[in-house]
Amino acid sequence: MEIRTYPDPVLKTRAKPVKNVDGDLQGLIDGMIEIMYSAPGIGLAANQVGELKRVIVFDLEPGEAGRRPGVLINPEIVLGGDEIIREEACLSVVDFSAEVVRKTEAMVKGMDRHGNPLSIEAKDLLAVCLQHEIDHINGILFIDHISSLKRALYKKKLKKTLKGK
Ligand code: NI
Repeated sequence: MEIRTYPDPVLKTRAKPVKNVDGDLQGLIDGMIEIMYSAPGIGLAANQVGELKRVIVFDLEPGEAGRRPGVLINPEIVLGGDEIIREEACLSVVDFSAEVVRKTEAMVKGMDRHGNPLSIEAKDLLAVCLQHEIDHINGILFIDHISSLKRALYKKKLKKTLKGK
């Protein structure tokens, strides 16, 4: 399992709902959690490891002390609150960060890793993190939220980097 990076088409594809919470899925979830912590990152979606399944993992404090990985299967999100602008980056968008407009509140419903119903009322950084990760399973990257000029600059920079390799 490895992290897929832009412009890999799997990142632009909408993931499919999970039907069976089985051993294969547990393996995927464990692998995603391991990759998130070793990166380190505060969230990871299944698309980012090449699996088109509606699964995300997250932990706002990925440092070794007190890790508590969150898992959501088939999450559905309802946004609320005010707008918030934060600098975002992504393990799948190498060497780039940009300010993105999000909402301060997110109500998310889905299943936990055992298939039990789970709802989370998230605010601020957790709300932003969940918006970013749920975007992933809908085939959306944070660079899809920035101006076309900034996105073009990133693509140009990436082309140069890829040529240099
Ligand atoms: Ni990301």
